[in-house]
Amino acid sequence: MEIKKIQDLDVAGKKVLLRVDFNVAIENGKVQESFKIAAAKETLDYLLNRNCKVAMISHLGRPEGKADPKFSLAQIVSDAENILASKITFVPDCIGEKVKEALESDVETQGIASVLLLENVRFYQGDEANDSEFSRKLVENFDVFVNDAFSASHRDHASVSGVAKILPSAAGLRLQEEIHEMTIIKDHPVSPAVAIIGGAKIETKLPVIKFFEEKYDHILVGGKIANEAIDQKIGFSEKVILPVDFVDDRLDIGLETVSKFKEIIATAKTIAWNGPTGKFEDEKYAKSSNEILEAVIASGAYVLVGGGETLEILEKNHAMDEISFVSTGGGAMLDYLAGNPMPGIEVLEK
Ligand code: 3PG
Repeated sequence: MEIKKIQDLDVAGKKVLLRVDFNVAIENGKVQESFKIAAAKETLDYLLNRNCKVAMISHLGRPEGKADPKFSLAQIVSDAENILASKITFVPDCIGEKVKEALESDVETQGIASVLLLENVRFYQGDEANDSEFSRKLVENFDVFVNDAFSASHRDHASVSGVAKILPSAAGLRLQEEIHEMTIIKDHPVSPAVAIIGGAKIETKLPVIKFFEEKYDHILVGGKIANEAIDQKIGFSEKVILPVDFVDDRLDIGLETVSKFKEIIATAKTIAWNGPTGKFEDEKYAKSSNEILEAVIASGAYVLVGGGETLEILEKNHAMDEISFVSTGGGAMLDYLAGNPMPGIEVLEK
C-alpha cells in the first residue's frame, strides 16, 4: 500500500494540525513514557524547520466525551517541552476561538519556535464517534493534516481518520518508519522467525497468534494469555509453544519453560515481541520477562518490540537502545499484524 508522505506535501509556512499520541502514563505529575512523546520529535522538527505553525493534537486516556482535569494534556506540557526541546503553548480546547487565537498570536518566543498543544480531543464525544461535523471543527483553522501517531491509527476517530478526509493530509516521518518496520516483521521475516506473545486478553491476541502461525517458525506464548489458552483448551499447531511449568499460582512461567524459550530464541534471525510472559509489575514474577529480554538481545536477531508493558520491561532494564526497533504501538501493532483495519493509515492511501 502506497501512502501519502509528508515529504510530498507542500507544508512550508502552513498551519499544520499534527496528530500525535501523547496518551502516556502519568505518575505524581511526571510522564512515565517519554519514548512515546519523543517519537513525535522528528516530524515536529521537520515542520518547524519549514516555518509551519504547528498544533499537536492527541487523546489522553478515556474521558468518555467529557472535560475532566484528570485527563488534561496540560499535565504533560513541561515534560513534553524537555523531551521535544521546544517551547509549547497549551491551548485549553481543541476546536473554536481559542485555537484560532493561539494560531494567530506570535509563535516565536525569543527566537525559539513555539508549538501549540491542544487539549485532549476525547473531551468531545465527536472524536470517538468520528462525527463529520466535529472533524470539520477540528480542521477549521488549518491548511494541512499530518498523522504521526501509528499507535492510534487503528482507531477510526475524527482526529485520526475523519480530518484526513477533509484536509490535504500525509503520514509523518515516525508513522512512515513504523509502517516500514512493521512490514519487515509482517511480510519479510528472515527465518528462523520467532514471535513472543504475552500479556492479557486472549481474544485480542488470538488473531495475532494465528497470523504468526502462518508466517513464523515458532510462537512462544506466556503471560495471562497462556493460562487462558490452556484453560479454554484452545488448539494450536505444534509451532505454538505453551508453558509446561509455572511459578506460584501461574503468575510467571517456570524454569523449564524459560529454558525452552531461550533455546529457541538463540536460533532466531527475526523476533517480534508483544506482552510480558509473567506478572512483571511484581518483581518476583518479572524473572521470565527479564531473562527473555536478555536472550532476545544476545540472539543478534532483528528484533521488533511493541506494547506498553513490554516497553516498561525494556525501560526497567535500560534496554531501549539494544532493540532493533521499538514500536509505539500496542493495540495498533496487534491490529496491524492481525490484518485488521488501520483507518488512520488507509485514509492516507494514494
Ligand atoms: C495506546 O495507548 O495504545 C493508544 O494511545 C490507543 O489508546 P486507546 O486504546 O485508548 O485508543
